[in-house]
Amino acid sequence: MGTEKDTRTNYFNIFNDKKPIVVRRCSLEDLEGVIEVNEKELPEDYPYFFYKSILDNYPESFQVACNSNGKIIGYIMWRVERAPAIHSLKLMNQGHLVSIAVLKSYRRLGIAATLLSNSMKKLKKYKIDDFVLEVRVSNYLAINLYKKFNFTTHNIKEKYYRDGENAYYMTLKA
Ligand SMILES: CC(C)(COP(=O)(O)OP(=O)(O)OC[C@H]1O[C@@H](n2cnc3c(N)ncnc32)[C@H](O)[C@@H]1OP(=O)(O)O)[C@@H](O)C(=O)NCCC(=O)NCCS
Repeated sequence: MGTEKDTRTNYFNIFNDKKPIVVRRCSLEDLEGVIEVNEKELPEDYPYFFYKSILDNYPESFQVACNSNGKIIGYIMWRVERAPAIHSLKLMNQGHLVSIAVLKSYRRLGIAATLLSNSMKKLKKYKIDDFVLEVRVSNYLAINLYKKFNFTTHNIKEKYYRDGENAYYMTLKA
């Protein structure tokens, strides 16, 4: 669980019309707000215990963005997996992006970019070799975001999503 001290360690300020937006580590108390953002912005929902297990296992790379009232307006969460490396058969640690979302009214302020860069730095603690993610082939906003971070498309996962949409499997060498 994130303590007061923990949440202060990763403090970033983005100024939205002079009101600061803070990006910091997620705490247990933040999970309800994270779930609210997820339910508003993404079709993929997860049960509470799923968020809790990501927070318990990978707390440092689970980041939230809050507005000046402390409301959660965005989040990012990752898990770490042991899997064959992208360009060899050797087993390596992969940082797998589980989910990222920012509320519509706070978009295009650099919040997702801050969440990504901050959490990717934190993931290095797990000796990550590759960062990997899936994204809907129609989700050009997110695809642009990942390209900005130099992710490239490795392959397409057919019918990856429950509604039958394909995913791009995007990867980046750490
Ligand atoms: C994708 C998402 C997280 C981006 O959040 P954001 O805070 O608005 O993104 P940022 O302001 O940090 O933008 C970073 C980059 O993303 C890309 N991007 C974001 N919004 C974009 C838009 N409307 N049009 C084109 N590119 C866009 C751009 O490359 C942008 O860099 P730039 O501003 O230098 O051009 C947000 O649109 C969202 O929550 N979407 C719904 C949830 C989702 O699809 N998550 C991804 C699931 S895989």
